[in-house]
Amino acid sequence: MRMYIFGILIILFQWGCTHHRGQNSEPGSQDRKWWKEAIIYQIYPRSFNDSNGDGVGDLKGIIEKLDYIQSLGVTAVWLNPIYSSPNDDNGYDVSNYREIMKDFGTMEDFDRLLAGLHQRGIKLVMDVVVNHSSDEHVWFKQSRISRKNRYRDYYHWWPAEKGRPNYRYSLFDEKGDAWQYDSLTDSYYLHYFSRKQPDLNWENPKVRREVHNIMKFWAKKGVDGFRLDAFQFAAKDTTFPAFPEGFEKNFINYYAMQGNLHDYLKEMHEKVFSKYDVMSVAEGAGRNFEDAHKLVDPERKELNMAYAFEAVDLVKYNGYQLSDLKEVFSRWDSAFAKKGWLSIFLANHDQARLVSRYGNDSPEFRAASAKMLNTFLLSMRGTPYCYYGDELGMTNIGFDSIQQYRDIAAINGYKKARADGEDMKLYMKKLRFLSRDNGRTPMQWKTNKQAGFTTGEPWLPVNANYKLINVENQDRDSNSCLNHFRKMTALRKSNPVLVYGDYQIAQPEHKQVYAYFRKLESDQILVLLNFSAKTARISLPYRIDPEDILINNYSSVETEGTMKILKPYQAVIVNVN
Ligand code: GLC
Repeated sequence: MRMYIFGILIILFQWGCTHHRGQNSEPGSQDRKWWKEAIIYQIYPRSFNDSNGDGVGDLKGIIEKLDYIQSLGVTAVWLNPIYSSPNDDNGYDVSNYREIMKDFGTMEDFDRLLAGLHQRGIKLVMDVVVNHSSDEHVWFKQSRISRKNRYRDYYHWWPAEKGRPNYRYSLFDEKGDAWQYDSLTDSYYLHYFSRKQPDLNWENPKVRREVHNIMKFWAKKGVDGFRLDAFQFAAKDTTFPAFPEGFEKNFINYYAMQGNLHDYLKEMHEKVFSKYDVMSVAEGAGRNFEDAHKLVDPERKELNMAYAFEAVDLVKYNGYQLSDLKEVFSRWDSAFAKKGWLSIFLANHDQARLVSRYGNDSPEFRAASAKMLNTFLLSMRGTPYCYYGDELGMTNIGFDSIQQYRDIAAINGYKKARADGEDMKLYMKKLRFLSRDNGRTPMQWKTNKQAGFTTGEPWLPVNANYKLINVENQDRDSNSCLNHFRKMTALRKSNPVLVYGDYQIAQPEHKQVYAYFRKLESDQILVLLNFSAKTARISLPYRIDPEDILINNYSSVETEGTMKILKPYQAVIVNVN
């Protein structure tokens, strides 16, 4: 019966949209698309579930948890890279794009995983890492051999007799230098990331063809989308002109959206995206709104979505300001209100944990603030990307010594900071709070050893709080973060206003509360989020009747006339039609 009513609602809604569009011919954000309605769950395969006791998560491990994934109410899974890799950067250094990493299993496992997801109505988005490959990819191995090798131009080489190339900054190099000298051919090669991640030469049409063929290989298998890793950096001015001194402080302005990048995306659209029902999302949205729009404007036929870093970059080791968060989300929303579509996220494998950064991971407020943050992510306009473990409110592990870190960014960053004479105490403090390893600790499934993630020694330690924070406990507690997350996904899926409705912030100057409306045709809802550990009061001329409350992370909401009184980290969504 419920399904039937929902079906009718959808038909009415579709009619509403078409009707609406008829009056206003601009193809706005209300064009229905599955990827706009998607709720994406990101799985870091290394850390999700280990089926064979080697301490590393694997595809069979994910297969074992398919019912759990379905129970979350998510509609798509984004997998971090699962291709063959020497793991200098945990799979973001691919040595064979058509093979599964041995640690993760086999192609048969992959096929079973894809079929298992599809059987459950869940789509799969693959990570495509093609700004660079691994130095152990056969292309690079060949490319190194001689200046005449047919793969030479697959990468960026600079012959040493021309002198040292102009400085380029590397994000992961221990010296910060993106040029690595290779004596074999007396040349330097370019690597924006680690030395084992040489940048591919996108200016070479053969490279582009190789990548299209790789993407087609996966699209033919039936995958539903691609996330283009670091792609905004792919195009380069291959004369490598000098950049002003200190450019690295603002390197995005020099690295992103260079040369013919848009043409490469149009070509990719023509060769791949237009031929399959796949969605596309790029990591990085360029230097400004104009770049971002160009990437996702449907008429330009490039990508469906890009994700911008402005909101995640707000958090420093000493926190962030709610006013900045509101300002960033509101500005981005208004820039995409008529055209294009946003990705909504606050956490992923490159960030520390959601609740530790944006909420409050003290025992008193962890659960409430994690629920509040998930309410936020799942009630904004744009496609939400939810990171594994955040549905439980998993927290930062906070390593104390550099020996505990596994992430190349932390390890090489440490070496560079020391060589540069930085304040190492402060560096370690920042790392403790912000490091990517915080967001990569094993998924906490159960109260037994290693949180049920592995029967062996996990590649990264399990957070000590796993006895308290785990799926087993939260599954049986109807008030848990996990069950709140499930309620939120169900709410989003059954209320198109949460997907397509306009967003309008209320009282942007409020110091504790982030309040906004979502409106679609005659539907109007109000979202009230107390981002603070103190009771907050906000006056709004809407009644909150208990029957109009769609979700609440406390059992009630207090009101005094027009005043709403929100408990610490209280999150309420209410119908205000
Ligand atoms: C992207 C990935 C990150 C990786 C880097 C290099 O930023 O998200 O994890 O280290 O690209 O591939």
